[in-house]
Amino acid sequence: MPQKILLYCDPGIDDSLAIIYALLNPEIELVGIVTSYGNVNQEQATQNVAYLLELGGKEDIVLIGGAKTPLSGEFTPYYPEIHGEEGLGPIKPPATIKGELLNFDAVFKLIEEYGDELIIVDVGRSTSLAISFNLAGAETMNSVKGFYIMGGAFLTPGNVTAGAEANFYGDPIAAGIVMEKAKNSVLYPLNVTKEAIITPTMIEEIVKEDNNPYQNLIKEIFDYYFKAYQKLIPGIEGSPLHDVMTLFAVTTPQAFKYVEKVVTVGLDEGNLRGVSIADFRPKPDEKGNKLTIALEVNTDTFAENFVKTMSSPISNNH
Ligand code: RIB
Ligand code: CA
Repeated sequence: MPQKILLYCDPGIDDSLAIIYALLNPEIELVGIVTSYGNVNQEQATQNVAYLLELGGKEDIVLIGGAKTPLSGEFTPYYPEIHGEEGLGPIKPPATIKGELLNFDAVFKLIEEYGDELIIVDVGRSTSLAISFNLAGAETMNSVKGFYIMGGAFLTPGNVTAGAEANFYGDPIAAGIVMEKAKNSVLYPLNVTKEAIITPTMIEEIVKEDNNPYQNLIKEIFDYYFKAYQKLIPGIEGSPLHDVMTLFAVTTPQAFKYVEKVVTVGLDEGNLRGVSIADFRPKPDEKGNKLTIALEVNTDTFAENFVKTMSSPISNNH
């Protein structure tokens, strides 16, 4: 049986590749997508998802409008130099595509409908997921099968500041709420997702096939993303697909090594903003909500699975 997934995201190039990955993966059934601000604004994120769904003839997948700002209400920067002005690298989705956007309570209808068969995957800022906990309460939210969350960086450099990862930095208050309240949660921090390196050679292999309607788009958005990463990290051989790795983890959890820890998130406006903290001492005094944190990954398994999935036809699950 494919895993039923409700995806919270902010497309964004790696979010877009994650959506395509989900649509092409026979082990995943995407039942809904919550679109929020993050890599681009919320309206643009929605338009990008609607465009991707239309390209694949999957307009039936439920689209839900998520947060437009962090819980603090402040403006947080977008990243056009990495994701492009519209979030899809050089591609501008046609203005005619809008997509029917459902109100936020559609999240709770999906939870009611699928119950403990539903997995929530959050690869964007944590705002919309924190709001879900606020509106529905922890008991309802924790009635799902579990949460897979991309965020944080433990004892390793951040990607927005020296210590902070972008999703946690974007809304540290929300990230803290999710870390405190979400049970059955697995966290995929930069420790593993920075290893989700996809190279131009792998993309060439994917586009050789003509099995799905996404091949041209995959190449164009990847090339843009790779150029951006080459500027950031000269000599890098490929680009990390953080969000794809988090979805891959749902179907291939055995590719990772994990620890269990309580996680807190720095709220300070200075160097500690968005920094994820866990106690790695030999005998930590842990009280609170323990999360499973992925700290190592088998990168060959990921790369192989990515090339195979992205070269496949659209699955009929959705
Ligand atoms: O830090 C990586 C995360 O931030 C990913 O979700 C990516 O989309 C970026 O916004
Ligand atoms: Ca993202």
